[in-house]
Amino acid sequence: MKGVILAGGLGTRLQPLTKITNKHLLPVYDKPMILYSIETLKQSGVEEIMLVCGREHAGHFMNFLGSGQDYGIKLSYALQDKNDGGIADALRYTEDFSEGENLAVILGDNIFSNSFRTEVKEFTGGATVFFKQVDEPARFGVPVFNKAKTKVVRIEEKPKKPKSPFAQVGFYIYDNNVFRIIRKLKPSGRGELEITDVNNHYIKNGGLHFSFISGKWYDAGTIDNLLAASVDLARQAKKNVSRLK
Ligand code: TTP
Repeated sequence: MKGVILAGGLGTRLQPLTKITNKHLLPVYDKPMILYSIETLKQSGVEEIMLVCGREHAGHFMNFLGSGQDYGIKLSYALQDKNDGGIADALRYTEDFSEGENLAVILGDNIFSNSFRTEVKEFTGGATVFFKQVDEPARFGVPVFNKAKTKVVRIEEKPKKPKSPFAQVGFYIYDNNVFRIIRKLKPSGRGELEITDVNNHYIKNGGLHFSFISGKWYDAGTIDNLLAASVDLARQAKKNVSRLK
């Protein structure tokens, strides 16, 4: 399976830091954020990776990561023309790279303590998404389950009244139909092509699988979360806890 790291976006909530460089090159504890996504994909068995970023600061990624050889991966790059086109818009740019294969997609500002090796290995088609119980689900995509809690009926993007305490995290596995689905999407109220709309398409076609993650998960997209992730990872490192099980 090939991998995609989405590292575009505006990074508005991390200003003024993101005036200097791309959000995903900012430090989280002892290394630039982007290395955590690379590590997660590698640990999940994915080593051929495309990184999608906006035009601004794109050269910083290439300077730092090069061909990916230093990190044990084969890396290529794509530019998202419209920085804030949305996560599904960013994914659109990886169609040629995918060459008809399945894709493991990670949001570059999501840091995981678990790998997705089993799900990547056992993926047979459709889409697989991952949920984690959180205190404030309203900030994320929130799954609505059937009564028996065996199926996801739909995923609601940033709902005012969340119907479950779970958040959709930034790791997804897709078959190649994802590009056909993205082509049909219309921009949401905030003008973005939403990944949640993609996942709802898979639900309608009966092709959405889901799993709950047990490890730690950080969405490092705000100043407070960036700091919390750094502090937590530093503590774990001092306790000598391996980040990825
Ligand atoms: P967000 O944090 O939702 O958006 P952002 O990075 O623009 O930040 P802010 O809201 O503070 O302005 O993005 C989540 C992840 O998705 C992040 O790692 C960047 C990626 N992304 C893209 O690659 N392209 C996009 O068009 C968007 C919106 C996000």
